[in-house]
Amino acid sequence: MPQITAVILAAGKGTRMKSELPKVMHLLAGLPLIDHVLDKVEKLGIQEKVTIVGHGREIVSDHIANRSGILVQEKQLGTGHALIQTLPLLKDDSTILVLSGDQPLLSSETLSSLLRHHQESKASATVLTAMMDNPFGYGRIMKKNGIFEGIVEEKDANPDQKGINEINTGTYCFHGSSLKSALKQITPQNAQGEYYLTDVFKILVSGGLKIETFCTADPSEALGINNQVQLAEAEEILYDRIRKYWMMEGVTIMNPSSVFIDAQVVLSKDVFIYPFTIIKGNSRIEEGAMLGPGTTIINCICGSGSRIENSVARDAEIGKNCLVGPFAYLRPGTELGEGVKVGDFVEIKNSRIGEGTKVPHLSYIGDSILGENVNIGAGTITCNYDGKSKYKTVIGNNTFVGSNTNFIAPVEIGQDAIIGAGSTITKDVPDKALAVERSQQKVIENWQRAKDSRG
Ligand code: UD1
Ligand code: CA
Repeated sequence: MPQITAVILAAGKGTRMKSELPKVMHLLAGLPLIDHVLDKVEKLGIQEKVTIVGHGREIVSDHIANRSGILVQEKQLGTGHALIQTLPLLKDDSTILVLSGDQPLLSSETLSSLLRHHQESKASATVLTAMMDNPFGYGRIMKKNGIFEGIVEEKDANPDQKGINEINTGTYCFHGSSLKSALKQITPQNAQGEYYLTDVFKILVSGGLKIETFCTADPSEALGINNQVQLAEAEEILYDRIRKYWMMEGVTIMNPSSVFIDAQVVLSKDVFIYPFTIIKGNSRIEEGAMLGPGTTIINCICGSGSRIENSVARDAEIGKNCLVGPFAYLRPGTELGEGVKVGDFVEIKNSRIGEGTKVPHLSYIGDSILGENVNIGAGTITCNYDGKSKYKTVIGNNTFVGSNTNFIAPVEIGQDAIIGAGSTITKDVPDKALAVERSQQKVIENWQRAKDSRG
């Protein structure tokens, strides 16, 4: 089999996105568009990859430098001009797979079928096409008696050509030497004054070379992203694919269309997801965990059997069999041991909470280490910040903290200690001690009558 070089076109400005961000860096299910394309190419085992960058080149190259070769297209004069940049690298006898960085839904199965078709038919070029109910905006495939004749862009098409439903997906296979000679002949004589890659086909056809088309079974794979509406459409399709994938792997999703799972998320069987739940980033959810309703999880590990309800968790690690929420907020650096309970209106940041510990209601725990089986009374706050620096609170195993306690950090409480409710704790407390900090309660008998007699 000839050597395959993948070329990904990603230099365009993405004018129609009306955004400062280069088009291929827009996120789709949590990953930039370009990553989706490179993932598919890597899945095919293609080693040689070259991405053409131009607009926003620093951002794009920084992002992909470790996985793709990079060529710069100084001026974005069209898709053909982008491909011309690869001329010095193209080998005569290799197969060139050309992809667009804005076409993230193509599956690696489709690409592999395209390559197979191209190689078996021994064509000079093969165009990946799709049948679209609404082909507006795409290049149309012109055929006569089923034989490929060329591609006409929307802006250059006459009304008859606009009625063609078979479109150019912008993904192609080329025989190296044919592509090289055709690229040298294209000119910008068209409605947009650009060097169209699609003009290569006109040249190949007039040279009598064999061009094949290969049509995708699923036209949604061909969706090109040129504006924010198409980005949202593609995202809907991808989220639907991801949900179906995980359901087939044994995940239960109630009201699937209200649940959004990013591309890199890993779930396990018997995970149960309630409606209105979003799972993002590099999150891993283990067997039997229950998430939602109304829960957002970003870059978290959630242990098996844990339950997170109506809560937000970011960069946190939740052990097995924990109960979180309703209405809890786990911030970066939170680590919950096995069987921890974090209840309603509790915020935890940069803290390790030991096995079996409970923080059930209305608390803020920041920069803290809590041992095992600690009980934190309602309304307890760690005062970790003095306006300049952050300080640590440490509480030993089995300590009972009464409600409405303030820990003025830095402070360390031993094991098996008791803190009286309502205390503001400023000094360390040893193991097994009771610490109470309260002014004495005054009781003035018959206060109401005395007040009345004062008139
Ligand atoms: C292109 C095709 C069209 C096809 C459609 C599929 C051409 C002339 N037209 O149109 O037939 O139906 O894709 O989605 O090829 N790019 C560069 N440098 C440039 C211009 C573009 O690298 O100078 C890159 C873009 O970043 C993008 C890709 O090429 O990733 C496609 O460019 P775009 O402008 O989106 O082409 P379409 O108008 O969609
Ligand atoms: Ca496009």
